[in-house]
Amino acid sequence: MSTPTGWRREGNLPAELTSFVGRTRLLANLKRHLAESRLVTVTGIGGVGKSRTVLRLAHQVRSQYPDGVWFADLARLQDAGMVKHTIASALGIADQSSRAESESLSEWVGDRDMLLIIDTCEHLVQGCAELVHELLEAAPNLKVLATSRQSLHLPYEQVVPVPPLLVPGDDPAESLFTNESVQLFALRAGAVVPDFQLDEDNITAVAELCRRLDGIPLAIELAAVRLRALSVEQILGLLADRFSLLAGASRTALPRHQTLRAAIGWSHELCEPAERLLWARLSVFAGDFELDAARFVCSDGRLPSEDITDLVTGLVEKSILLIRSNHAGVRYKLIDTLAEYGEEWLDSSTSSARPSR
Ligand SMILES: Nc1ncnc2c1ncn2[C@@H]1O[C@H](COP(=O)(O)OP(=O)(O)O)[C@@H](O)[C@H]1O
Ligand SMILES: [Mg+2]
Repeated sequence: MSTPTGWRREGNLPAELTSFVGRTRLLANLKRHLAESRLVTVTGIGGVGKSRTVLRLAHQVRSQYPDGVWFADLARLQDAGMVKHTIASALGIADQSSRAESESLSEWVGDRDMLLIIDTCEHLVQGCAELVHELLEAAPNLKVLATSRQSLHLPYEQVVPVPPLLVPGDDPAESLFTNESVQLFALRAGAVVPDFQLDEDNITAVAELCRRLDGIPLAIELAAVRLRALSVEQILGLLADRFSLLAGASRTALPRHQTLRAAIGWSHELCEPAERLLWARLSVFAGDFELDAARFVCSDGRLPSEDITDLVTGLVEKSILLIRSNHAGVRYKLIDTLAEYGEEWLDSSTSSARPSR
């Protein structure tokens, strides 16, 4: 596999689209492990911040890798047989004609001094593990940083769990105002209500909300969106009712993955029926997409193509879709944990949820 002209030695790291909060100790730990191990796998539940933390780290350590830091996102990949191809594409060296892509891929990496990030491996653990092993054996200067809900089970793998953000009360010496969950809520709140400020009047409710959401960043982001129509107190009240109902009378707290599901479920219910349908249908996109593609793929008699723009805007406002604009135009991306939820919903609802054509 030859290096195509125009290959960029610096890598292909996506830009960070929103501000990053906290995680000082975790980032320092990850740097240390990355210096000592050739394979570091970052694990944790969906929405806890694996991808985001790794992206932050990647930007911080970028200058240490003369042959670049490379990011391959497997989130929406269904087929283990495509892992190699996806990684080769991320590296900008995909070769359509090559059948033995993995062989040439490791040959190509050779003695390049680079960091390869493989984001979201959990549904393809076996395929990823085999490829990573092969690459690490063949390429002595390669390092791999993976994210996955479960480890790759390789003997030399360093597994680093990502816990939720600290919530108020975790560190009794810390002020509520500087707690990282509270900071994240405040930043996202500021994007929804520009004059939002943490103050003595709302800090207790914000702190309690972050505790209820177990410090899970995705859940915090989804809750902050509700400020468009509700006060922090009101969000907290509705959420507390909802969660205690789910947890049952005898239990006060939900397990974390249920907290996230409940937070997503709440956002889902608050979407218009047409937004829900579009959310589900957008889950077929493997990566980011343009508005025209969404119109083409997702519209039918139930979702008229002229409504798609407004519905996409609605989903962006609810933090279901990420928006990414560059010189080539605007692209959208369904956050992977939310894509999964949409896909399940599509599977469980009647076939009429699928576009008819
Ligand atoms: N430390 C952080 N600061 C700011 N935003 C964060 C942080 N950690 C996670 N997020 C945001 O929370 C959401 C979920 O994080 P993500 O990394 O996608 O989770 P995971 O990969 O574990 O499923 C994303 O929108 C991400 O940008
Ligand atoms: Mg992720």
